[in-house]
Amino acid sequence: MPNLHNFGAGPAKLPEEVYDVLAKELRDFESSGLSLLETSHRSAVFEKFNTQVQDTVRELLEVPSNYKILFLQGGGQGLFAGVPLNLMSRTGTADYVVTGIWSKVAAKEASKYGKVNYVLPEQEVYVGIPDEATWKLDPNASYVHICANDTIHGIEFNFIPDTKGVHLVADMSSNIMTRKFDVSNFGVIYACAQKNMGTAGVTLVIVREDLLGHALPICPSVFDWTLMAKNNSILNTPPVNAIQIMGRILQLYVQQGGLTKMAELMTKKSSMVYSVIDQSNDFYFSTTARKDRSVVNIPFRIGTPVSEELEKKFLQGAEALGMVQLNGHKLVGGIRVSLYNSVTMQDVEVLVIYMKEFYEKHR
Ligand SMILES: Cc1ncc(COP(=O)(O)O)c(C=O)c1O
Repeated sequence: MPNLHNFGAGPAKLPEEVYDVLAKELRDFESSGLSLLETSHRSAVFEKFNTQVQDTVRELLEVPSNYKILFLQGGGQGLFAGVPLNLMSRTGTADYVVTGIWSKVAAKEASKYGKVNYVLPEQEVYVGIPDEATWKLDPNASYVHICANDTIHGIEFNFIPDTKGVHLVADMSSNIMTRKFDVSNFGVIYACAQKNMGTAGVTLVIVREDLLGHALPICPSVFDWTLMAKNNSILNTPPVNAIQIMGRILQLYVQQGGLTKMAELMTKKSSMVYSVIDQSNDFYFSTTARKDRSVVNIPFRIGTPVSEELEKKFLQGAEALGMVQLNGHKLVGGIRVSLYNSVTMQDVEVLVIYMKEFYEKHR
């Protein structure tokens, strides 16, 4: 609903402008006379659009020409299996840097397909990224996996780890398209779309070409990146509607100034929220180490000690003012503010005014 301020972690807010474009083209896609939803995925119309969306990903992220861009299905968790199925065969082992629940789930899934080396000691609570000097990397690993931004804990890598020559694989489900970075530092980047690029149904994989050709024999064909790359991601019927939405959102990002502009806005929005948290004398507090704070997902608790009653009040009051989906993930509770690209400065202004008023009333 346009009047609501949606801070959901995913499926997340979509840009208003894209709703207008989609409404116009839903029945007649680019004057083809047909909706894309009822057009063959093997038609010239879809083939052209599919390539255009790949080109837009390449343009926004400046993806070098020796990387393939794939659109798959199965969501982020599908890729938790897809990564080991495609990359683990070389040595049968992989390094997982577990800095939150999502990387923990990824590691567990990978252990079905080979040996997982846990680079860090198990942590009961996730508060940040331990110093790289303490990481126990295995030089024999087929790859090193990180979750670039843990959506639940708001823990984000703001550096590219030194993996000592082993291929780096990153789950960027919640921070892709929020800034530019050097893709050539990564062997594989993957992300589900429903946070910052569209809706559930399509997942993006950016894979360096020399890593193709190593899928385990048990790898299902639709998860096999080599087969998918050969078939331009059209081995079977792709999620055409999800690709259509993703394409339109990414084109909008280009028109709005690309990822430099997105990063600038993200920094502004997150500093507005963190500054209220930091000036509240621990009334609002974040457990994440400052150096690893995410600019995209900001979880916090209310009260010292934590008061679930106050948190409930906060959420109810926010909802009454049209601010929705501010609850923390069910595993950690509390509040979580997600600031994906489509969340506007105006949304954030309304939120910080409310946070300040709530603090004054209940501190
Ligand atoms: C960082 C991260 N990775 C993976 C996933 C799983 O994505 P999906 O629900 O598409 O499987 C999520 C979902 O929120 C996520 O935040």
